[in-house]
Amino acid sequence: AAVVEHTFIVQNLTINRLCNRRVITAVNGSLPGPTIRVQEGDTLIVHVFNKSPYNLTLHWHGVFQKESCWADGTNMITQCPVRPGYNYTHKFRIIDQEGTLFWHAHVSALRATVYGALVIRPKSGHSYPFPNPHREVPILLGEWWNANVIDVLNQAIATGGLPNISDAYTINGLPGDLYPCSQNQMYKLNVESGKTYLLRIVNTALVAQLFYKIANHNLTVVAVDASYTKPYTTDVIVIAPGQTVDALLLADQEIGSYYMAAGPYYTAAIIPFDNTTTRGVVVYRGMPPTATSLMPTLPARNDTPTAHKFYSSLVGLKDGPHWVQVPAHVDYEMFVTMGLGLNPCAANKTCLGPLGARLSASMNNRSFVPPTALSLLQAFYSNIDGVYNTDFPAKPPIEFDYTNASINANNPSFFFAPKDTKVTKLKFNSTVEMVLQNTAIIGVENHPMHIHGVNFHVLAQGFGNYNGAEHRNMFNLVDPQMRSTIGVPVGGWAVIRFTANNPGVWLMHCHLDAHLDYGMATVFMVENGATTGTTLPPPPADLPKC
Ligand code: C2O
Ligand code: CU
Repeated sequence: AAVVEHTFIVQNLTINRLCNRRVITAVNGSLPGPTIRVQEGDTLIVHVFNKSPYNLTLHWHGVFQKESCWADGTNMITQCPVRPGYNYTHKFRIIDQEGTLFWHAHVSALRATVYGALVIRPKSGHSYPFPNPHREVPILLGEWWNANVIDVLNQAIATGGLPNISDAYTINGLPGDLYPCSQNQMYKLNVESGKTYLLRIVNTALVAQLFYKIANHNLTVVAVDASYTKPYTTDVIVIAPGQTVDALLLADQEIGSYYMAAGPYYTAAIIPFDNTTTRGVVVYRGMPPTATSLMPTLPARNDTPTAHKFYSSLVGLKDGPHWVQVPAHVDYEMFVTMGLGLNPCAANKTCLGPLGARLSASMNNRSFVPPTALSLLQAFYSNIDGVYNTDFPAKPPIEFDYTNASINANNPSFFFAPKDTKVTKLKFNSTVEMVLQNTAIIGVENHPMHIHGVNFHVLAQGFGNYNGAEHRNMFNLVDPQMRSTIGVPVGGWAVIRFTANNPGVWLMHCHLDAHLDYGMATVFMVENGATTGTTLPPPPADLPKC
């Protein structure tokens, strides 16, 4: 295995987008930032220099970080931020996973422009569980704000309201020709007739779940979240913020030019959202210059049946590379609600949330607040008291009809979520089964729930209130898909199972940026194992101080 080394300079970049000249924060002068390419088993070293005006952490989204929790890069969870002018070196091995992941800033809204692809190929002598593609292409879907995105988020947090919506969606940083002044800012993929391309699709967006389609072409999904799936052929992909999809594109159509397009999937009618469409173009070699491009028809923005069909059709590639059996027994059962709610506005303040209150977000009615003086990992590693409590509830305080907004809004227990820092301690190698139930309190939205440090099996997903007696027999315990991010639908649920086989402190949170800041998060603290190779090493010497 090799050592792959990168230097990331995070600094201001002036670029033109949508008729504006803007200063953004970016890595090594490009948007998206550099693509990291490794093989499974490699060691990755990234020297991060923060020359931006903001506090910064960089996170390697979906990387297990086996015995390298200090490198995870979650602000105040595994490290204090790298202050402007400082640097930090992340060093970790990439093991037991292959496919597409990405890296992004994990503090404030910086990840809107501080992100890039992380591609993990099989180690030498190993091959894909599908025919070798002719070429591999990262497709990073994102969002663009004309305003400074940090200001957008800070403004929302200060007023307790919703952040302003984005001004465009992007493919590999480019909005495409449906937006003003963007004629020449369109992603172009050149293909040769008869060849197969591996599209490594990532949703890096802060807000929008997206549909993605290429005119006239099918896509064959072979992996999600860097975990192989049974090949699944579809004409449309649904991808939530934090999810990745590896899909094969066979250039089997008439020589010509075909648009690829992405637009929002939203179930919430009451929330203002960006309803624009980004597009790029797939151009066959030998295409006559006069050919016109075909445009795909994206599903309606609230086409839940299409989204559900895509998500529920995926199964894992049983016995394929890195396949993991579903844990047969469960040590710790959890039932976790995720909801948006309101918290009172501070006296003498004006808040812009509904009813003049502040928006808040919670899991099991606890609104997570990260510590400020030292990271949770430091507190956990050094046994420092008073930083967190280990009594995160395994179920919600009361049961109710989670799909009925009016009942919820009148339920004070769910209306005001206490803010605190509650975690769940897990024994090494213990197994967790978690029901994730999306409540429909305020601002009904799908919540893409993401976990650090492990992947989980998705045993079942559905709509309405989860009912163990009835829904347990839906569980796929044979070949469920493995993921690190699951979109839990509005008024719906999902059941996941994982093994806590990685000592450290792992954040689980909604991958909608504002929901994390509003408190839709919780933390697992996984204790050391008894044998060598199952313990958390000491912190690196250059770990940033608060
Ligand atoms: Cu993509 Cu907690 O992160
Ligand atoms: Cu959410």
